[in-house]
Amino acid sequence: MTRCNRTIGAYGGSMTTFVPAPLVTPATVHDVLRQSLLVDGFDLVLDLERSRGSRLVDARDGTSYLDLFTFFASSALGMNHPALVGDPEFREDLLAAAMNKPSNSDVYTEAMARFVATFARVLGDPGLPHLFFVEGGALAVENALKVAFDWKSRWNEAHGRSPALGTKVLHLRRAFHGRSGYTLSLTNTEPVKTALFPTFDWPRIDVPAIRFPLPAHLDEVRSAEATALEQARAAFAAHPHDIACFVAEPIQGEGGVQPVPAQFLRSLRLLCDEADAALIFDEIQVGLGRTGTFWAHEATGVTPDLLTVAKPLAGGLPMAAVLLTERIAQAIQPGDHATTFGGGPLVATAALAVCRKIGEPAFLAEVQRKGELLGERLGAIALSSDKVTAIRGAGMIWGVEITGAASEVIGRSMEAGLLVISAGPNVVRIVPPLTVSDEELLEGLAILEAVL
Ligand SMILES: Cc1ncc(COP(=O)(O)O)c(C=O)c1O
Repeated sequence: MTRCNRTIGAYGGSMTTFVPAPLVTPATVHDVLRQSLLVDGFDLVLDLERSRGSRLVDARDGTSYLDLFTFFASSALGMNHPALVGDPEFREDLLAAAMNKPSNSDVYTEAMARFVATFARVLGDPGLPHLFFVEGGALAVENALKVAFDWKSRWNEAHGRSPALGTKVLHLRRAFHGRSGYTLSLTNTEPVKTALFPTFDWPRIDVPAIRFPLPAHLDEVRSAEATALEQARAAFAAHPHDIACFVAEPIQGEGGVQPVPAQFLRSLRLLCDEADAALIFDEIQVGLGRTGTFWAHEATGVTPDLLTVAKPLAGGLPMAAVLLTERIAQAIQPGDHATTFGGGPLVATAALAVCRKIGEPAFLAEVQRKGELLGERLGAIALSSDKVTAIRGAGMIWGVEITGAASEVIGRSMEAGLLVISAGPNVVRIVPPLTVSDEELLEGLAILEAVL
């Protein structure tokens, strides 16, 4: 039995006792964790070995679940993808990289350089030639904001204005950008996520979300766009030179899977240019192939000044990146923005394998094809079910808005062997692995239809 040491001191003396560690088996995992953690996730103990592709296996009894949740859209390739587990060289590199953790702002490795070169070749956007790494999504947005504040302050000073200006972030209703210091002032989905924390009072505007089928809702969407644009103009006018940036998810994930209209984002690009504010796209959930293009914003024709990416980047290991234009990157001075471990050899080795796979010529075409199948099938379900009030999405991210509580549908889906998640109180979110098969998609949707 495993034992751990505990040293107890009494009246200046000390002695060492052995406290038995609890016996961990699949059956005791939840109880053991519950003694120290809040355990409010799925009733599942993930079998890391037996789970494969789109099938998550419960280590307690071998029950297999069809995975259309992918750890909140953070797994692009599904479980144990053969390109990773079946490649002995990859496994060896990963193990070697995991043994040490150099601080990557000061010390560089081949693993890091190999990944950066592949990332630039496969996913690089010539408009966003610079990047830096941090360890998670909220930190990526947080650091993108920091860079924007930095840039805007220097810009103001260079144009004869006070460098103290440039402190505000224009953002959208129903946005989710994380739960760290600065990002708490932007996130405004469920109140429980932000309500009790001090936040900045930054300008927030409506999101003119697309409703499908678009032709039937065009007037409604255009009028919502005009209102939101007016709010944005008013915000820039109310805070002259003080808005450093506008940040948006091209498709809002947590906020209900709400695609933001391309025309609106193009107008915001122009407004940002007029006001010398940076445009930030947060693609932490929708980037890296999820919408059928490398980047979700490609479909909008708008290039941001900063772009954040995280969830699937390193196949489940903590890695996030911020991509920057030349103009913005020039503001960064050595020492301004750094982190000890961002982009280390372990995460870089994993991310290299993910990027190579996503970069294969047929990969994205397949995601697009399967995305169309998913959208069509969901459309048919929506037509035949009076419980579905709307469907929205693109590629491998779809939201099904329903009349009842999403949590109930999620619970009943799990009982029927399907894992899905919510995106707000009444939206069921479907985010399969990008590698899902047609049969698995149809199987999952048949379960969902029966549950609805
Ligand atoms: C769009 C978006 N931004 C930021 C985040 C925060 O990422 P993390 O949970 O890695 O901090 C998320 C997480 O769901 C997200 O979906």
